[in-house]
Amino acid sequence: MRTPMVAGNWKLNGSRESAVALASEIAASAQDDMTSKVDVVVCPVSVHLGDVSTALNGAAVKLGAQNAGAEEEGAFTGEVSASMLAEYGCEYVIIGHSERRSLFGDTNASCAARHKAVAAAGLTPVFCVGETLDDREAGNTMAVVESQLQAVFDVCGDNGFASAVVAYEPVWAIGTGKTATPEQAQEVHANIRELVAARDPQTASALRILYGGSMKPDNAADLIGKPDIDGGLIGGAALKSADFLAICQAAAAQA
Ligand code: 13P
Repeated sequence: MRTPMVAGNWKLNGSRESAVALASEIAASAQDDMTSKVDVVVCPVSVHLGDVSTALNGAAVKLGAQNAGAEEEGAFTGEVSASMLAEYGCEYVIIGHSERRSLFGDTNASCAARHKAVAAAGLTPVFCVGETLDDREAGNTMAVVESQLQAVFDVCGDNGFASAVVAYEPVWAIGTGKTATPEQAQEVHANIRELVAARDPQTASALRILYGGSMKPDNAADLIGKPDIDGGLIGGAALKSADFLAICQAAAAQA
């Protein structure tokens, strides 16, 4: 059985004070009956990791980062390496979010290199894939997703997702209030699992595939109820502790 996972991607939001407040609220409410069933993860901006780690105060809530560089150290101004994130207690790193790809020039190849570096540092990459609305309307959803996954196979080999999580985030559903239907999401999740299974069946059956894109308390249960949807990567709704925790509860109820 795969342990469900619900991760909050806080994106570029908040202040030190508000990040600590949000983390404290989540830590105080995420009781054992939830965290024993669901991996609950928060991903603040990197400069807030230390404060958020302290605010989590030993609670079972886990810490993640929103990106990591492909390099370990050296003349790479502006980058943060996976081992530096590990020093703050990070266990997960989001890689290849569509905002990184569309706004900051991250490519399939650079995302795969980052993925490899995160795994090499002993952290879990949360590798994001997903199509634009144009891709979907042109019938190219799986071609796009496959090319994003292929980059990881090229750089990391057939078991490149062995200690990773995949997040399927259709770009047209991110921050738009327009959620993929559970059926649409399930279809892509099942295809992702098949693509991974063609390389490494064991990895595929253990692989957690999260859905992201306007997941909210009122649609989480239907999405996570699908057989290949193992949780959520949450944007807007992760910034309100009550909403985030309600999504975690929905995942726990299905575990
Ligand atoms: P929203 O939940 O705000 O649509 O964002 C999803 C997302 O991008 C998570 O990484």
